[in-house]
Amino acid sequence: MSSIIEDELLSSSVIKDLEVLDFNYIPEDILHREEPLRFLAQMFKPLLSGISQNVVIRGPVGTGKTVMAKKFCISLVNLARKQGKTIEYVHINCRKRSKDAMVLLGILNHFDSRFPDRGFSVQEMLEVLRKQLKRRDAQLLVVLDEADALFQKKGSNLIYGLTRFSDESSMDKIPVSLLLISQKDVLSMLDSATLSTFKRSNEISLDKYSRDELFDIVQQRIDLAFHTGTVDDGCSDLISDIASEWGDARFAIELLWKAGISADHQHVDLVTPEHVRAAKAETYSIVTESKLCNLERHQLLTLHSIAKRLKKDGTAYVNTGDAEKTYAVTCEEYGEKPRSHTMFWNYLKEIESAGFVTLKQSGKGQLGTTQLISLPDIPAEIVSNKVEELLG
Ligand SMILES: Nc1ncnc2c1ncn2[C@@H]1O[C@H](COP(=O)(O)OP(=O)(O)OP(=O)(O)O)[C@@H](O)[C@H]1O
Ligand SMILES: [Mg+2]
Repeated sequence: MSSIIEDELLSSSVIKDLEVLDFNYIPEDILHREEPLRFLAQMFKPLLSGISQNVVIRGPVGTGKTVMAKKFCISLVNLARKQGKTIEYVHINCRKRSKDAMVLLGILNHFDSRFPDRGFSVQEMLEVLRKQLKRRDAQLLVVLDEADALFQKKGSNLIYGLTRFSDESSMDKIPVSLLLISQKDVLSMLDSATLSTFKRSNEISLDKYSRDELFDIVQQRIDLAFHTGTVDDGCSDLISDIASEWGDARFAIELLWKAGISADHQHVDLVTPEHVRAAKAETYSIVTESKLCNLERHQLLTLHSIAKRLKKDGTAYVNTGDAEKTYAVTCEEYGEKPRSHTMFWNYLKEIESAGFVTLKQSGKGQLGTTQLISLPDIPAEIVSNKVEELLG
């Protein structure tokens, strides 16, 4: 018994440095993001002269928003230090800290890890923060990552409270800069008083990674994380093909990591495309689930109808007419009124752009507007089970 345990624990690995495959790892080179990094540097340059700036980064999942922000802020802090200036940089994830008080506590913990987590109002915490900054003769740079979570519940005054530090005409002025990161348009969520401290031109929008960009990102991680010659050349091709559907670097790195683990579990010293396929099958259900949560009820009903139909007919495609009929039935099953034909088309287009289905023109013998719908990668079974869960 103990020998099995020891054999496994001590078995060799294709992976040289597991940490490199962790989502928090910051690579030396952030690939294919030269322009946005340059833009950040231009936007935040005034901080080196003690003038605060507010910037927004926006972009879809896994497009490097977080890693880029961290890389940039660390470089800025280091450069400022060389010039004898102190910029205190705090990175807050608002999905984890979704209230003003929790964000402020996170900021105060940067200065004092023992700052009590209760007993202070937001106003009092702002005062403590002001004193901390004053004492250190420091300016503050706060990154509010996944910032939309903070504005989901109405009434966040935090940004306003923080920007007041730099506003005040008194001698007590302390530059406080903000970098807001989100997949959504956070500026549209701000009230007018807060919005006035942001300029639209200070917003960077990141695009999904192309297949070739993902290829380079995957190749970089292979070189950093794996022993030489342990990853078959086909792996980076396959991973970037799969991940390019979403343009998501996190998904690509996750596939690479899981493929490596899968090779280790089989005690082989080469990661092959077959390991990637296994990793994909395993990962899809997780990724699908998190993306499904973003769909609205009627989009889910539409997707459910398609999956149901494909499963029942056992075919590769369902035409849009049949899908719409099934949609009407599905709506009834879930006690919903089917929406108009036009709305149904909108739902279809939306779930297509979210990557769940593909649409193509049907061949001869079909009506002009009829299209064929398919589920490109995910088994209909997985989709319908998850959707059923979400529809409740
Ligand atoms: N240009 C890049 N070069 C190297 N690695 C990258 C690059 N872009 C992203 N990555 C890696 O991909 C993963 C996802 O990136 P990141 O966490 O920055 O995405 P994100 O845009 O913040 O996504 P989300 O909206 O889900 O938070 C991380 O492991 C990151 O290191
Ligand atoms: Mg992020």
